Amino acid sequence: MNIRVFENELQASQATALLLAAQILDKPASVLGLATGSTPLKTYQELIRLSGNGILDWSQVTTFNLDEYLGLAGDHEQSYRHFMMKNLFGKVNMRPEAINVPDGIAADPAVECMEFERRIRQAGGVDLQLLGIGRNGHIGFNEPDTKFTTLTQVVDLTEDTIDANARFFADAADVPRQAISMGIGTIMRAKKIVLLAMGADKARAVRSMVCNPVDPACPASVLQLHGNVTILLDRPAATALSHCPEVTL
Ligand code: GLP
Repeated sequence: MNIRVFENELQASQATALLLAAQILDKPASVLGLATGSTPLKTYQELIRLSGNGILDWSQVTTFNLDEYLGLAGDHEQSYRHFMMKNLFGKVNMRPEAINVPDGIAADPAVECMEFERRIRQAGGVDLQLLGIGRNGHIGFNEPDTKFTTLTQVVDLTEDTIDANARFFADAADVPRQAISMGIGTIMRAKKIVLLAMGADKARAVRSMVCNPVDPACPASVLQLHGNVTILLDRPAATALSHCPEVTL
Protein backbone atom coordinates (compact mmCIF):
# COMPACT_ATOMS: atom_id res chain seq x y z
CA MET A 1 0.00 0.00 0.00
CA ASN A 2 1.29 3.45 -0.88
CA ILE A 3 0.30 5.82 1.91
CA ARG A 4 0.53 9.58 1.39
CA VAL A 5 -0.24 12.08 4.13
CA PHE A 6 -1.06 15.72 3.32
CA GLU A 7 -1.25 18.79 5.50
CA ASN A 8 -4.93 19.40 4.91
CA GLU A 9 -8.09 18.26 3.14
CA LEU A 10 -7.56 20.46 0.13
CA GLN A 11 -4.11 19.06 -0.62
CA ALA A 12 -5.27 15.46 -0.14
CA SER A 13 -8.23 16.11 -2.44
CA GLN A 14 -6.15 17.82 -5.11
CA ALA A 15 -3.62 14.98 -5.03
CA THR A 16 -6.46 12.49 -5.47
CA ALA A 17 -7.78 14.49 -8.42
CA LEU A 18 -4.30 14.39 -9.97
CA LEU A 19 -4.27 10.58 -9.79
CA LEU A 20 -7.66 10.42 -11.52
CA ALA A 21 -6.59 13.03 -14.07
CA ALA A 22 -3.39 11.10 -14.81
CA GLN A 23 -5.49 7.98 -15.39
CA ILE A 24 -7.69 9.78 -17.94
CA LEU A 25 -4.68 11.41 -19.64
CA ASP A 26 -2.91 8.07 -19.82
CA LYS A 27 -5.99 6.22 -21.12
CA PRO A 28 -8.74 8.49 -22.47
CA ALA A 29 -11.20 5.56 -22.63
CA SER A 30 -10.66 4.71 -18.95
CA VAL A 31 -13.25 2.90 -16.89
CA LEU A 32 -13.48 4.70 -13.54
CA GLY A 33 -15.13 3.43 -10.39
CA LEU A 34 -16.43 6.40 -8.43
CA ALA A 35 -17.60 7.09 -4.90
CA THR A 36 -20.04 9.43 -3.18
CA GLY A 37 -20.07 10.94 0.31
CA SER A 38 -18.52 14.18 1.51
CA THR A 39 -14.98 12.85 1.10
CA PRO A 40 -14.60 13.09 -2.73
CA LEU A 41 -16.37 16.46 -3.11
CA LYS A 42 -13.23 18.61 -3.34
CA THR A 43 -11.61 16.01 -5.59
CA TYR A 44 -14.56 16.33 -7.97
CA GLN A 45 -14.33 20.14 -7.82
CA GLU A 46 -10.69 19.94 -8.86
CA LEU A 47 -11.52 17.54 -11.70
CA ILE A 48 -14.23 19.95 -12.90
CA ARG A 49 -11.65 22.76 -12.82
CA LEU A 50 -9.17 20.73 -14.87
CA SER A 51 -11.93 19.87 -17.33
CA GLY A 52 -13.03 23.50 -17.62
CA ASN A 53 -9.44 24.41 -18.47
CA GLY A 54 -9.56 21.95 -21.34
CA ILE A 55 -6.97 19.69 -19.69
CA LEU A 56 -9.31 16.75 -19.12
CA ASP A 57 -11.64 15.20 -21.69
CA TRP A 58 -14.34 12.85 -20.41
CA SER A 59 -15.86 12.04 -23.81
CA GLN A 60 -14.47 8.49 -23.87
CA VAL A 61 -14.61 7.77 -20.13
CA THR A 62 -17.03 5.20 -18.69
CA THR A 63 -17.95 5.30 -15.00
CA PHE A 64 -19.42 2.86 -12.51
CA ASN A 65 -20.53 4.11 -9.12
CA LEU A 66 -19.99 1.98 -6.06
CA ASP A 67 -23.48 2.07 -4.71
CA GLU A 68 -27.01 3.46 -4.55
CA TYR A 69 -29.69 3.53 -1.88
CA LEU A 70 -32.38 0.94 -2.38
CA GLY A 71 -35.76 2.61 -2.81
CA LEU A 72 -34.49 5.98 -4.08
CA ALA A 73 -35.02 6.90 -7.74
CA GLY A 74 -32.10 8.48 -9.58
CA ASP A 75 -33.78 11.90 -9.51
CA HIS A 76 -34.33 11.81 -5.72
CA GLU A 77 -32.31 14.61 -4.09
CA GLN A 78 -30.47 12.17 -1.81
CA SER A 79 -29.85 9.48 -4.41
CA TYR A 80 -26.24 8.86 -5.31
CA ARG A 81 -27.03 9.32 -9.02
CA HIS A 82 -28.33 12.79 -8.24
CA PHE A 83 -25.21 13.48 -6.14
CA MET A 84 -22.96 12.48 -9.03
CA MET A 85 -24.89 14.55 -11.60
CA LYS A 86 -24.75 17.60 -9.34
CA ASN A 87 -21.15 17.27 -8.20
CA LEU A 88 -19.38 15.91 -11.27
CA PHE A 89 -21.16 14.43 -14.28
CA GLY A 90 -23.34 17.48 -14.99
CA LYS A 91 -20.22 19.67 -15.12
CA VAL A 92 -17.91 17.66 -17.38
CA ASN A 93 -18.38 16.26 -20.88
CA MET A 94 -19.45 12.74 -19.83
CA ARG A 95 -21.67 10.84 -22.26
CA PRO A 96 -24.91 10.10 -20.35
CA GLU A 97 -24.92 6.51 -21.63
CA ALA A 98 -21.42 5.96 -20.16
CA ILE A 99 -22.64 6.74 -16.63
CA ASN A 100 -23.50 3.65 -14.59
CA VAL A 101 -25.08 3.91 -11.14
CA PRO A 102 -27.12 1.01 -9.75
CA ASP A 103 -30.85 1.62 -10.14
CA GLY A 104 -32.29 1.94 -6.63
CA ILE A 105 -35.85 1.35 -7.84
CA ALA A 106 -35.18 -1.57 -10.19
CA ALA A 107 -38.18 -3.93 -10.35
CA ASP A 108 -35.91 -6.80 -9.34
CA PRO A 109 -32.85 -5.58 -7.39
CA ALA A 110 -31.12 -8.98 -7.65
CA VAL A 111 -31.32 -8.83 -11.44
CA GLU A 112 -30.08 -5.22 -11.36
CA CYS A 113 -27.02 -6.39 -9.37
CA MET A 114 -26.18 -9.07 -11.94
CA GLU A 115 -26.75 -6.65 -14.80
CA PHE A 116 -24.41 -4.11 -13.14
CA GLU A 117 -21.67 -6.74 -12.90
CA ARG A 118 -22.26 -7.70 -16.54
CA ARG A 119 -21.84 -4.08 -17.63
CA ILE A 120 -18.55 -3.75 -15.71
CA ARG A 121 -17.22 -6.90 -17.38
CA GLN A 122 -18.42 -5.75 -20.80
CA ALA A 123 -16.59 -2.43 -20.30
CA GLY A 124 -13.36 -4.38 -19.70
CA GLY A 125 -13.28 -3.98 -15.91
CA VAL A 126 -12.53 -0.95 -13.76
CA ASP A 127 -9.15 0.68 -14.40
CA LEU A 128 -9.17 2.90 -11.33
CA GLN A 129 -11.56 2.65 -8.39
CA LEU A 130 -11.91 5.66 -6.08
CA LEU A 131 -12.98 4.84 -2.52
CA GLY A 132 -13.85 6.61 0.68
CA ILE A 133 -14.10 4.75 3.98
CA GLY A 134 -16.89 4.58 6.53
CA ARG A 135 -16.26 5.17 10.24
CA ASN A 136 -16.59 1.41 10.78
CA GLY A 137 -14.17 0.57 7.97
CA HIS A 138 -16.79 -0.08 5.29
CA ILE A 139 -16.01 0.48 1.62
CA GLY A 140 -18.85 1.05 -0.81
CA PHE A 141 -21.62 -0.14 1.47
CA ASN A 142 -19.82 -3.35 2.43
CA GLU A 143 -20.38 -3.35 6.14
CA PRO A 144 -18.26 -5.24 8.73
CA ASP A 145 -18.30 -9.02 8.34
CA THR A 146 -19.25 -8.97 4.65
CA LYS A 147 -17.65 -11.87 2.80
CA PHE A 148 -14.63 -10.85 0.75
CA THR A 149 -15.88 -12.73 -2.32
CA THR A 150 -19.13 -10.81 -2.77
CA LEU A 151 -20.11 -9.17 -6.04
CA THR A 152 -22.69 -6.40 -6.47
CA GLN A 153 -25.55 -7.17 -4.10
CA VAL A 154 -28.31 -5.77 -1.92
CA VAL A 155 -26.94 -4.98 1.53
CA ASP A 156 -28.43 -4.05 4.89
CA LEU A 157 -26.85 -0.92 6.33
CA THR A 158 -25.65 -0.92 9.93
CA GLU A 159 -27.11 1.43 12.52
CA ASP A 160 -23.78 3.30 12.55
CA THR A 161 -23.99 3.96 8.81
CA ILE A 162 -27.69 4.85 8.94
CA ASP A 163 -26.84 7.27 11.74
CA ALA A 164 -23.94 8.79 9.72
CA ASN A 165 -26.28 9.24 6.70
CA ALA A 166 -29.14 10.73 8.72
CA ARG A 167 -27.66 14.24 8.42
CA PHE A 168 -28.75 14.35 4.78
CA PHE A 169 -32.42 13.50 5.42
CA ALA A 170 -35.11 15.72 6.95
CA ASP A 171 -36.64 12.84 8.90
CA ALA A 172 -34.77 9.91 10.46
CA ALA A 173 -37.53 7.62 9.18
CA ASP A 174 -36.61 8.55 5.59
CA VAL A 175 -32.99 7.29 5.84
CA PRO A 176 -32.70 4.19 3.65
CA ARG A 177 -31.81 1.00 5.48
CA GLN A 178 -30.63 -0.95 2.43
CA ALA A 179 -28.51 -0.26 -0.62
CA ILE A 180 -27.19 -1.88 -3.78
CA SER A 181 -23.41 -1.97 -3.52
CA MET A 182 -20.50 -3.33 -5.48
CA GLY A 183 -19.16 -6.21 -3.43
CA ILE A 184 -15.66 -6.55 -2.02
CA GLY A 185 -14.94 -9.02 -4.84
CA THR A 186 -16.01 -6.40 -7.40
CA ILE A 187 -13.84 -3.71 -5.81
CA MET A 188 -10.80 -6.01 -5.59
CA ARG A 189 -10.95 -6.69 -9.35
CA ALA A 190 -10.19 -3.03 -10.13
CA LYS A 191 -6.73 -2.65 -11.60
CA LYS A 192 -5.87 0.31 -9.34
CA ILE A 193 -7.48 1.50 -6.14
CA VAL A 194 -7.25 5.02 -4.71
CA LEU A 195 -8.70 5.54 -1.23
CA LEU A 196 -9.14 9.00 0.24
CA ALA A 197 -9.84 9.49 3.96
CA MET A 198 -9.99 12.77 5.81
CA GLY A 199 -10.78 13.93 9.32
CA ALA A 200 -10.20 12.59 12.82
CA ASP A 201 -13.36 10.47 12.84
CA LYS A 202 -11.77 8.24 10.17
CA ALA A 203 -8.47 7.75 12.07
CA ARG A 204 -9.51 4.52 13.80
CA ALA A 205 -10.84 2.94 10.58
CA VAL A 206 -7.66 3.98 8.74
CA ARG A 207 -5.52 2.34 11.38
CA SER A 208 -7.51 -0.91 11.19
CA MET A 209 -7.30 -0.83 7.41
CA VAL A 210 -3.52 -0.58 7.22
CA CYS A 211 -2.07 -1.75 10.56
CA ASN A 212 -4.25 -4.64 11.72
CA PRO A 213 -4.43 -8.09 10.16
CA VAL A 214 -6.84 -8.49 7.25
CA ASP A 215 -10.20 -9.11 8.88
CA PRO A 216 -13.80 -8.88 7.61
CA ALA A 217 -14.53 -6.88 10.79
CA CYS A 218 -12.81 -4.02 8.93
CA PRO A 219 -13.80 -4.54 5.27
CA ALA A 220 -11.21 -2.01 4.04
CA SER A 221 -8.41 -4.17 5.46
CA VAL A 222 -8.87 -6.46 2.43
CA LEU A 223 -7.08 -3.77 0.42
CA GLN A 224 -3.80 -5.00 1.97
CA LEU A 225 -4.20 -7.94 -0.43
CA HIS A 226 -4.49 -5.77 -3.56
CA GLY A 227 -1.32 -5.08 -5.52
CA ASN A 228 -1.97 -1.46 -6.52
CA VAL A 229 -3.49 0.69 -3.77
CA THR A 230 -2.77 4.32 -2.96
CA ILE A 231 -4.17 5.75 0.26
CA LEU A 232 -4.32 9.53 0.58
CA LEU A 233 -4.90 11.02 4.02
CA ASP A 234 -5.00 14.40 5.66
CA ARG A 235 -3.11 14.73 8.98
CA PRO A 236 -6.12 14.12 11.27
CA ALA A 237 -7.01 10.87 9.46
CA ALA A 238 -3.39 9.71 9.84
CA THR A 239 -3.02 10.43 13.56
CA ALA A 240 -3.53 6.82 14.70
CA LEU A 241 -0.78 5.55 12.37
CA SER A 242 2.15 6.99 14.32
CA HIS A 243 2.81 3.78 16.29
CA CYS A 244 2.03 1.42 13.46
CA PRO A 245 5.14 -0.66 12.59
CA GLU A 246 3.79 -1.51 9.12
CA VAL A 247 3.79 2.11 8.05
CA THR A 248 6.70 4.42 7.31
CA LEU A 249 5.32 7.87 6.69
C1 GLP B 1 -21.16 6.03 2.45
C2 GLP B 1 -20.71 5.60 1.06
C3 GLP B 1 -19.22 5.29 1.04
C4 GLP B 1 -18.46 6.43 1.67
C5 GLP B 1 -18.89 6.60 3.10
C6 GLP B 1 -18.15 7.71 3.82
O1 GLP B 1 -21.34 4.96 3.27
N1 GLP B 1 -21.43 4.47 0.61
O2 GLP B 1 -18.82 5.06 -0.30
O3 GLP B 1 -17.07 6.16 1.60
O4 GLP B 1 -20.26 6.92 3.09
O5 GLP B 1 -18.82 8.92 3.65
P1 GLP B 1 -18.16 10.32 3.86
O6 GLP B 1 -17.23 10.52 2.76
O7 GLP B 1 -19.31 11.30 3.80
O8 GLP B 1 -17.51 10.28 5.19
